Amino acid sequence: MTLPTPIILDCDPGHDDAMAILLAAANPAVELLGITTVSGNGSLEKVTYNALRMCAVAGIVVPVAKGANDPLAGKASAAPSIHGASALDGAELPEPNFELSPLTAVELIAKLVTECDRKVTLIPTGPLTNIAMFLQTHPELHSKIEHISFMGGSTERGNWTPYAEFNIWADPEAADVVLRSGLPLIMSGLNVTHQALATPEVLDRISALDTNLAHTVVDLMKFFATTYQDVFGMPDPPVHDPVALAIIIDMSVAKLVSAPVAVELTGLLTRGATVVEIY
Ligand code: BDR
Ligand code: CA
Repeated sequence: MTLPTPIILDCDPGHDDAMAILLAAANPAVELLGITTVSGNGSLEKVTYNALRMCAVAGIVVPVAKGANDPLAGKASAAPSIHGASALDGAELPEPNFELSPLTAVELIAKLVTECDRKVTLIPTGPLTNIAMFLQTHPELHSKIEHISFMGGSTERGNWTPYAEFNIWADPEAADVVLRSGLPLIMSGLNVTHQALATPEVLDRISALDTNLAHTVVDLMKFFATTYQDVFGMPDPPVHDPVALAIIIDMSVAKLVSAPVAVELTGLLTRGATVVEIY
């Protein structure tokens, strides 16, 4: 019998991050060791609260630790136009039902990786600040990382600026550390995540489950659909973040292509763009 892949989800919930939390906790092909949070879609306080509220609504109990407040350089940004004022608008969510870990995100990642008897896969679905800090401060643990499968970047155009995707744009220096780490990386950029759409048919199937959690998911995704329509003119919102995890669960869900990727750090108009060498 194949053992589940041990994973740590590093996220900034956020609607699609919230879906990644549910997938990470429920899919038997992976074992969710812990959740860490990073400022991105909302402030660190908001996204951490949202991670805990998602755990409460879904009955998930794993260590949750708060990470970086600001990117490696500069100040944090948020995406209220997409995720609302709370960073997770659209559904009534219960209050957290367990305490945040006293460890920082980097400390928790290091502890979980050290204690695990197998290599661990990191799934970052927000700005890469925590992951970069972990890699810089714990070189002795690099050999215990199986993959870093992240949502971010694009082989084509961006969504936050013409050429930059939000997660990479929010902390390009951190993305640079990760991309240069030499570890096995899997990038799920906009070119693939824009194919993972929460269509009305998908939402109907979830709604038909008729559980409290299913209705919460549908309420969240309907809010996400309205902002994606308003901001990007997309009628069905892309559920970006679970794609980075789905690939670890089943590598056949997407076509993987090996290619060098770098991040633009100095471009006047293109800072945060991923430069992907595929022709
Ligand atoms: C990414 O940015 C955030 O808004 C989403 O949660 C996703 O991680 C998409 O560009
Ligand atoms: Ca995210």
